[in-house]
Amino acid sequence: MISASAHPNVALIKYWGKSHDALRIPATPSLSIPLLAFRTETSIEVARKRDEVILSGQEDKSGRIANWLRILRGDLGLDMPPLTVRSSSNFPSAAGLASSASGFAALTLAINALLDLDLDMPSLSRLARLGSASAARSVSTGFIALDGRENAHTAWSAQKVLDYDAWPLGVCVAICSHTPKAVSSAAGMNRSRDTSPAYNAWLTGNRQMFERTVNAVTARDFEALASAARWSFFGMLTVMQSSVPPLNYFNESTCAVIQAIKTLQDQGVPVFFTCDAGPHVKCVHLPEYAALVEARIRAVPGVLEAIQACP
Ligand code: DP6
Repeated sequence: MISASAHPNVALIKYWGKSHDALRIPATPSLSIPLLAFRTETSIEVARKRDEVILSGQEDKSGRIANWLRILRGDLGLDMPPLTVRSSSNFPSAAGLASSASGFAALTLAINALLDLDLDMPSLSRLARLGSASAARSVSTGFIALDGRENAHTAWSAQKVLDYDAWPLGVCVAICSHTPKAVSSAAGMNRSRDTSPAYNAWLTGNRQMFERTVNAVTARDFEALASAARWSFFGMLTVMQSSVPPLNYFNESTCAVIQAIKTLQDQGVPVFFTCDAGPHVKCVHLPEYAALVEARIRAVPGVLEAIQACP
């Protein structure tokens, strides 16, 4: 039996839109930081007859991982026996934090070890990307960029821009609902691509912001990072809201947390927020402001939990 683990991540520059559905090739580059307090552990062993996938003790009925294993064996020609996969996470599923990123990343690392593939980071991230594009950013930790220039599987892989320890930003997650989302990220981003009049402008602008962010991270420039992350978040939000029918992942508590963060910013606190395809708000701040940010989020009416996601 081989075990591996990986952390989920939060994108500061967002991926929202694919240029190839089956290969999960993003239409725009993205950049994330890891949520190091959260972790998914995955173990694999050779099965007798067919793949078996058990997530948090329950058989996985979605077929998503089994389908990905078929792609690895079929399209990529990986010589892999049937596997029993067992995976569980230390973060509450009610947290609504996508476990698909850490899940596919941990499984990719376990397969790499089981088959003695000895893959480098770009190759590992490409395999994980075929399961979920955000998983490509979870095969390593740090400030991770997922970028590519051509619409080809080999072109899109993740690279580390900076070690997390070199700039250990804090992330406090405001949990704003326990209700599962109605529209998955994959379905939502396809709807945006197919119907939003703002989609093409989003792709162009987000690439520019990505390039600025790589420079901001290298220079450890919090203001420049916050400004690009703000653009990317509101750009994605504009595309979501102008999709037909519109995509709305937020609730009243989401807006109340955003307001609380804006108040902190007005008071000069180095903090910014970002959200994904869900109601929760991820508040990124310089490490010394952790207690203040967490206390303010906790005090917002409707917030169910405030979790420090980075040590
Ligand atoms: C809003 O990686 O979950 O969180 O590739 O279809 O599995 P698939 O989508 P997924 O989308 C993540 C979208 C996002 C932004 C981001 O993480 O970059």
